[in-house]
Amino acid sequence: MERRELLRLLASAGALPLFAPLARAAGTADATGGDNWQAQFEAASAPWKTGFATPANDLPLTRATVRGRFPDAVAGTLFRVGPAGHDMGGERYHHWFDGDGMVHRFVIDGADVRHQGRYVATPKRVAEVRAGRRLYETFGTMPPGGESPTSADSINVANTSVLPLQGEVLALWEGGSATRIDARTLDTLGVKTWRADLAGMPFSAHPKVDPDGTVWNFGVSSGQGLLALYEIAPEGTLRRAAVVPVADMPMVHDFAVTERHLVFLMPPLVYDNKRKEAGSTFLDAHVWRPELGMRALVVDKHDWERRQMLELPAGFLFHVGNAWEEDTPRGTLIHVDYVRSDNTDSVFISNREVMRARRVRGADPHLTVATLNLGTGKATQVALAQEAEFPRIDPRRVGLRHRQVVHATQIRPDLPGFGAVARTDVETGRSQRFSYGTQAIVEEHVFVPDGKKPGWVLGTAFDFGRQKTVLSCFAADHLAAGPVAQATLPYALPLGLHGAFVPA
Ligand SMILES: [Fe+2]
Repeated sequence: MERRELLRLLASAGALPLFAPLARAAGTADATGGDNWQAQFEAASAPWKTGFATPANDLPLTRATVRGRFPDAVAGTLFRVGPAGHDMGGERYHHWFDGDGMVHRFVIDGADVRHQGRYVATPKRVAEVRAGRRLYETFGTMPPGGESPTSADSINVANTSVLPLQGEVLALWEGGSATRIDARTLDTLGVKTWRADLAGMPFSAHPKVDPDGTVWNFGVSSGQGLLALYEIAPEGTLRRAAVVPVADMPMVHDFAVTERHLVFLMPPLVYDNKRKEAGSTFLDAHVWRPELGMRALVVDKHDWERRQMLELPAGFLFHVGNAWEEDTPRGTLIHVDYVRSDNTDSVFISNREVMRARRVRGADPHLTVATLNLGTGKATQVALAQEAEFPRIDPRRVGLRHRQVVHATQIRPDLPGFGAVARTDVETGRSQRFSYGTQAIVEEHVFVPDGKKPGWVLGTAFDFGRQKTVLSCFAADHLAAGPVAQATLPYALPLGLHGAFVPA
């Protein structure tokens, strides 16, 4: 691509990466209708609803009660982030993913664990707190009187994941810039601009870090049908960025890397500019088009012009575990495991209804292992038995052959979220799990390496029986034996999304 053409595309994407200009009356209702969600949430009796409540303020550094002792390998800080600011001025968002982000740090040192949580002071949150009401439409909600955003970053909620990089923490959304956070104070330092001409470009919440520290990421510019690609050096400087066109641009939340490729699984949930222009929320502007199948876009890491599209059966996903490749007489094979659902109920229904404390079960997501044959262009997949979400692997195995995936798994489908944490061998399907019981909702657990030893699994859960959040550490090879150490906070945190561990 000519540099001039690239810059033209980048500029158009940066100006309005997510949202086409709207010709709608202010306050147009979204597809969920009605506007008494706040009252419905407050009237609900479900004991788990606290997980979707809005902390009034930042949460100052607080010591947890610790049972056992956290191993030396997990001495350090677990950073997490999630939607937390769900209501304001008597109005409640209609989607879990809408809330203003709160970033957390759990500082772990043996039998001492302290927690701090702070709202990310995005321009959107600062403006809305000042106004005392919502000003803008979001991913899944059109607040009454809400305005069309002027740019993606004007509605950036920084609520999805974190990327520790060079002593800072980036709070990630996916529609706009990463937000820089001070790792020690959780102060918001401003948006991250990788290069002046990339200001405001979408930067996904699921960057991948190669074993050598190289960071790969992407961003979806739905309205323009562009996929932005980023390569960032271990020291945090941008090496390369470009955009590539994608027909029928779908919702892509996560991706994978191998030693030589970037791998995008593209569910047939396709953005439709016309729906957006007619007044839909960003979410409702997406149309399920199963005839497209699940497209798998494979991009050469070193030559982004070399791209190949394969096709799997239609399905939906948020998350990918890992991918790796091998050269065989039949061609280069890419193995990629991901969490597949038959449909989009989770994003359109389940993760909406929890905002008025209703549990509506969606399609059960299952760990699925796909094989992409770059020689023949054929793709196949096998579903494993395990229900799963929030897959994580040993960070040293990103892009390399791995077997163990740590993930949340289901034990009581009548409640939202997941009740157990599991570790599954994606080659044999063998799995072990620890159940938090029927009074808890499991959040993401991460794998923490420990030299040549089996390592540790570290993660949080909301114990709604006690209305407290717990942080647990398990021996990775004896997950079912239960936590070797557990810290209990004196309060419940809003249920979050992703995290990252940084050793001391
Ligand atoms: Fe995610």
